Amino acid sequence: MGILDKHGVIEKNATILLVGSLLVVTVGGIVEIAPLFYLENTIEDVEGMRPYSPLELEGRNIYIREGCYVCHSQMIRPMRDEVERYGHYSLAAESQYDHPFQWGSKRTGPDLARVGGRYSDEWHVDHLVDPQSVVPPSVMPKYAFLLDKLIEPKYIQDVMKTNRIVGVPYTDEQIANAEADWLSQADPDGDNSDVDALQARYPKAQARNFDGKPGVSEMDALIAYMQMLGTLVDFSTFTPDASR
Ligand code: HEC
Repeated sequence: MGILDKHGVIEKNATILLVGSLLVVTVGGIVEIAPLFYLENTIEDVEGMRPYSPLELEGRNIYIREGCYVCHSQMIRPMRDEVERYGHYSLAAESQYDHPFQWGSKRTGPDLARVGGRYSDEWHVDHLVDPQSVVPPSVMPKYAFLLDKLIEPKYIQDVMKTNRIVGVPYTDEQIANAEADWLSQADPDGDNSDVDALQARYPKAQARNFDGKPGVSEMDALIAYMQMLGTLVDFSTFTPDASR
């Protein structure tokens, strides 16, 4: 009875209650937040994950600019219906190089976290030019203009450097070769293309003319990005590290 009586003092005095509450929240906050400053890494390293190639990064920027994330998520939850439809649930490491991440919050269209390799490049071109031509009831807008917007790797080094500032481990070599890699991936048959060098820097990078038209268009970059989504981690060999 004694201690509960003393608690009555706090309950009846607003100032003491406020100071007491603040103290409790502060201790709770420190206990939760402080350890994060001492952990080397809060994300389990997963084999196969690498930063985006310059062309994929360009495509990702177009994805963000066009607001694809408004209708599409990129996060497969570990629930049976999702895993059966989209594949292995998303790992934290799969968005570790995403600034900002593209998890999304709404699915007007399907999740795209593992859309890479699900459709041909031609399907993507047809679908982006006129979604209703392949899926008649689709409410997705048309993005035909992406085909006509030819692009050059003028700013890609700056984009990579900016990503490096926020923690993406691009090496000096990757940044120095950004323009060359960008061109090799979009036009592997070009005179100065070196696909081996590209794939040494970015394993599994797919190099081809994605939109089937001459020149490098925004369509090329966006499809290069779509086709790599979810393809980096080999789930036949992946085992979660439960100790972390
Ligand atoms: C207004 C909402 C909306 C926006 C914005 C939108 N989509 Fe879609 N998307 C959909 C819907 C609905 C579907 C399902 C029907 C279909 O396939 O067209 C879809 C389907 C897709 C698919 C096929 C996925 C699958 O697994 O079948 C891809 C790929 C795709 N969208 C890419 C994009 C890209 C890239 C952008 C941005 C340039 C974009 N979408 C913007 C609504 C949207």
